[in-house]
Amino acid sequence: MSIQKVAIITGGSSGIGKSLVLKYANEGYAVVFTGRNENRMAQVVSELGERPHLSLELNAGDKDDNKKMVDETIKKFGRIDVLVCNAGISMRALFEEVELDVFKQLMDINFYGAIYATKFALPHLLESKGTIIAISSINGWRSTPARTAYSSSKFAMQGFFEALRTEVMTRDVNVLVVCPGFTSSNIRNAALNADGQAQGESPRDEKKMMTPDEVAQRTYTAAKKKKRDLILTFEGKMAVMLNKIIPSRLDKMIYKMMKKEPDNPLK
Ligand SMILES: NC(=O)c1ccc[n+]([C@@H]2O[C@H](COP(=O)([O-])OP(=O)(O)OC[C@H]3O[C@@H](n4cnc5c(N)ncnc54)[C@H](OP(=O)(O)O)[C@@H]3O)[C@@H](O)[C@H]2O)c1
Repeated sequence: MSIQKVAIITGGSSGIGKSLVLKYANEGYAVVFTGRNENRMAQVVSELGERPHLSLELNAGDKDDNKKMVDETIKKFGRIDVLVCNAGISMRALFEEVELDVFKQLMDINFYGAIYATKFALPHLLESKGTIIAISSINGWRSTPARTAYSSSKFAMQGFFEALRTEVMTRDVNVLVVCPGFTSSNIRNAALNADGQAQGESPRDEKKMMTPDEVAQRTYTAAKKKKRDLILTFEGKMAVMLNKIIPSRLDKMIYKMMKKEPDNPLK
């Protein structure tokens, strides 16, 4: 009898996380996912149907909630093979105007959330010789204006996972860092403004972006091949490359691009 493998996906109620939940379930994994929005979580549960799953309404930025996520997974399924640190929020505001609490929320959810989840899941991943997948961003390689907190959280994430990768590489745990480019999802609607309010609408054309299903498919394949990095979209790959060779030229190009967004706060 083959072993039932288990994948945890944080922030599985929407966007890339939801696509990853469905992808791993389709590949025969038992899936555990977290989120905060009851209706969206119920929708994912209904799409999973009879496939083995556990849906947990928990805050990704809370240490005890992350411990609970791992404890409940072990109680129900007995093992962890894949941990995807995906839960995240964004922001759009100038640093000079943003409430410091917005900065803290971004770091708590995007950065500390990944640290807590990894800390509690790691003993089980070492046992299963499993995989850790960090959903970072092109902003983890190259920052953009009016996204200081978001970019900081993703740079911090990548620093952490790069160090962790080399700590566990001799013990057969693979760490994959995925950097999506613009992907159609709820992230820009939920992004916080300077006062910490969700901006409520996307300033970009979501229809022109990569789909979350494509991100999930390519993440799954990269993880199977034990890749260390996955950088997505042509624009994203260009940004990473140009930042290495002509960073100050790229400063101007990025400013111009972000200045085109409706209601952008740039001066
Ligand atoms: N979309 C893009 O263009 C893009 C580009 C690069 C990187 N990314 C990264 O991809 C990841 C997924 O984002 P997405 O684009 O799929 O956005 P999304 O549609 O807004 O999904 C974000 C997910 O994270 C969950 N989440 C947020 N805060 C949480 C919290 N405190 N506790 C528990 N769950 C929480 C949300 O759940 P609830 O709504 O239920 O709270 C939702 O399931 C993020 O890490 C993001 O930074 C996205």
